[in-house]
Amino acid sequence: MSVQLGSLVRADGNGAVNPLRAGLDSSRIAEPCSIVFFGASGDLTKRMLIPAMYNLRLGDILPTNVGIVGFSRSALSDDQFRDQMHAAVDQFSRSGPAKEPLWGDFAQRLFYVSGEFDDPEAFKRLRARLEQNDRNLGTQGNRLYYLSTPPSVFGKIVAQLSNAGLGPKDQAHGWSRIIVEKPFGTDLDSARALQAEVTKVFDEKHVYRIDHYLGKEPVQDIMALRFANVIFEPIWNRRYVDCIQITAAETVGVEGRGGYYESSGALRDMIQNHVINLLALVAMEPPISPAADHVRDEKFKVLSALRPIAPDQVSKCTARGQYGPGLVDGHPVPGYREEPSVDPNSNTETYSSVKFFIDNWRWADVPFYLRSGKRLAHKYSEIAVLFRPLPHRIFGEGGEQIETNTLVMKIQPEEGVSLRFNAKVPGPRMHIRSVTMDFNYGSGFGVVSAPAYERLIGDAMRGDATLFTRWDAVEAAWLAVTPILNRWQSTTATDFPNYLAGSQGPQSADALLVADGREWRRI
Ligand code: BG6
Repeated sequence: MSVQLGSLVRADGNGAVNPLRAGLDSSRIAEPCSIVFFGASGDLTKRMLIPAMYNLRLGDILPTNVGIVGFSRSALSDDQFRDQMHAAVDQFSRSGPAKEPLWGDFAQRLFYVSGEFDDPEAFKRLRARLEQNDRNLGTQGNRLYYLSTPPSVFGKIVAQLSNAGLGPKDQAHGWSRIIVEKPFGTDLDSARALQAEVTKVFDEKHVYRIDHYLGKEPVQDIMALRFANVIFEPIWNRRYVDCIQITAAETVGVEGRGGYYESSGALRDMIQNHVINLLALVAMEPPISPAADHVRDEKFKVLSALRPIAPDQVSKCTARGQYGPGLVDGHPVPGYREEPSVDPNSNTETYSSVKFFIDNWRWADVPFYLRSGKRLAHKYSEIAVLFRPLPHRIFGEGGEQIETNTLVMKIQPEEGVSLRFNAKVPGPRMHIRSVTMDFNYGSGFGVVSAPAYERLIGDAMRGDATLFTRWDAVEAAWLAVTPILNRWQSTTATDFPNYLAGSQGPQSADALLVADGREWRRI
């Protein structure tokens, strides 16, 4: 296999060019800059962020005039940080262990600043490091700050950047941008307060709110499927669509994040951001261009048309669950309440499903069923568009097994699109059965999708905000889930734990659809 990352066309072992990739230009080189990872001693930096930077370099997407600065409380020298990041790349990089001589060159661009997030002296040291990078590495005064700390310190960091003269308004030349990890707030009020703090220093156009789902290749393909084809849009509406089901199912539990998860729960952790973003992409109107604000205008419009759920309707439109002990992939696993740092009487939901309606012409009265949970039977994420039944059946007995059409956008682990339709079974009689037509990105284009963080960091370095969530959409998403959060906080779930680890989720979630004469697709 001769694969040149970042090259235009890849060849297989025989030197044959994959015709589906011919003419593709993937060389989107990022701008010179220093990127500062706040929270550099955390898990995300090791598992995702530094391996992403390394692979961007390997793929020639990262220019050589780049400085990477880790900032964290732990006391480390530059060399110790480099050693730790070497180990992280060896363990977590998708391209395998770090390769020389590239690693040696990359490591020379890695630096570390140790300090508290509210210590002005530490930010002075950071400023000195960034200025040195401008002089020695040619980073041209450009700065990309990445907040991957607990959200409680986001505000402090932004304020210290400003005090140290490191905000965009302090610059004579170059740019400053800030990437903010999720969660952006823990509810509507805290999100608004955070927005006020951040925008004291960074204008909205400098703020890149990360939702890693938006960086997943199949999620980006939703727009291509809808707006680069003529056959789907005419049926993409209430006339033909019966309902839309969006699923983000996981088999993992809280993975040692019990402390965080206790104050979060599935609704905040997944539905308010990742799953609602999927809803926006599948339901929005065609943007007038793929420019960041044109896309984000349409996403905002659709989110602002979400019908508010009245407090007394919350129990009819939602279901919540918490896993008990069970078997996942044949292995016994503890229940949520037995996980470390979790209250043995916890009321936190590890599963949530919600029925939303979008009050606009296209979608009036079409239910959007959203669900996400931990410790379910399988890990997968998908958007399924389920079409209406046939208006009239002509095949008598032979047509008894006709099913409604379903179009599924498969996000992970499989990446592709599948269409379920009906066909005649070969033979003398007119028997109809449902069949599936599948497209898979990996085999179709002959490439493995890059992890979301690579795409997103590269985009932020180029100043392309299309795949980042704008404040108005974040606020609309918080508004949509607020009545549910309020209701769930004020009422204890008396039936928790109410689903077995490794199962399909709680029965109350099934009941939500059964009440509408429908059922969930199987997890
Ligand atoms: C994160 C959540 O945002 O997304 C985690 O905080 C969750 O709880 C993760 O496990 C799921 O991401 P993915 O890409 O594995 O579906």
